[in-house]
Amino acid sequence: MADLFKDILSAEESLFANEMALDFDYLPKEVPHREGQQHYLADCIKLLLAGRMGKNILITGEPGIGKTATIQWVLREMEEKGLDESAKPVYINCWKKDTAHKIVMEICSQLGYKWVQNRNTDELFKEIANILNKKSAVIVLDEVDKLEDEQIIYQLLEDIYRKCIFLITNYREWLTELDARVRSRLTPETVDFKKYTLAETSDILRRRAKAAFVPGVWDEEGLDIVSQKAHELGDMRYGLFLLRESGNIAEKKASRKIKKEHAEQAINKLSEFSLKKDSDFDDEEKVMIKIIKENPGKTSTEIHEIFKKYSNKAYRTFHRKLKALEEAGVLKIETDFAATGGHVSRVRLKK
Ligand SMILES: Nc1ncnc2c1ncn2[C@@H]1O[C@H](COP(=O)(O)OP(=O)(O)O)[C@@H](O)[C@H]1O
Ligand SMILES: [Mg+2]
Repeated sequence: MADLFKDILSAEESLFANEMALDFDYLPKEVPHREGQQHYLADCIKLLLAGRMGKNILITGEPGIGKTATIQWVLREMEEKGLDESAKPVYINCWKKDTAHKIVMEICSQLGYKWVQNRNTDELFKEIANILNKKSAVIVLDEVDKLEDEQIIYQLLEDIYRKCIFLITNYREWLTELDARVRSRLTPETVDFKKYTLAETSDILRRRAKAAFVPGVWDEEGLDIVSQKAHELGDMRYGLFLLRESGNIAEKKASRKIKKEHAEQAINKLSEFSLKKDSDFDDEEKVMIKIIKENPGKTSTEIHEIFKKYSNKAYRTFHRKLKALEEAGVLKIETDFAATGGHVSRVRLKK
């Protein structure tokens, strides 16, 4: 019988020193090339620390370019400097906590408030406001476009007195579609994250690799093509995936180095796994794709009008599906200026 486990490397021989450092939600020691944004956010928080009113910031930009990492880094710095005593940081991912109740429960948990049994959302919100209003608060709503109910933003704006609210989204047009009452209270400044340059991408990935692998195992050429690919795709997650996968491939071959050829194989694997197959879409998604294909450059509202012939989904639900398709890399939603003023979102199929 063949020896299945023949070529395995022992733990001492592993190319990985700390594989966790490649996890998407691992917060690295440093988040370079976002210093401008870090200072900007820190300056807003400093207002609170100086006893002033804070600011609300809308952070926008494509997925995978360090929005979450940057804000979490700033919050961790605050905690490390003990500043969280005067301005309490609260971080919510609205993809995971998408209703007012879930958000309120999460804030209670982050504040260490335990008397949540049999209390409704409003009661708990009052408790939170009581705690936060003793000092000031930095409230981050990440992936805010995934919120089911925007009322909670209104409540935070109204009932928490001294605060910075940072809202993060991949969709610039989210604000224009926000309820006018909430929007006029919010009046945020916008911080737009631009894509990393190739040199920045390469530096970031090299630092992540340094934290994750045994020193000296990477061939420079391998790192170069991984950086190139990650830059091309514009999402740092692909870079992290490729670093890990190249390491896995090299280990599988019992190689003591991660070479260009291993990185190339990892890149090939990437295209296999990221492209969704036709059969992965549900019926409504298939109809949506067909309509968009037949109506290039139409706005999302116009596409929804046509879609209504097939399904009575409300615009919100339709829009969520549209965004999911964008995240799967099928289409692109672009913000455009409307003839009547304001913005519209245009939908285009990729390729
Ligand atoms: N400047 C950076 N330094 C180190 N890691 C980064 C940097 N920018 C992004 N990353 C990493 O890339 C991944 C995607 O970044 P993330 O902040 O989650 O993107 P976004 O929130 O913009 O979608 C995360 O794992 C993050 O740690
Ligand atoms: Mg994010």
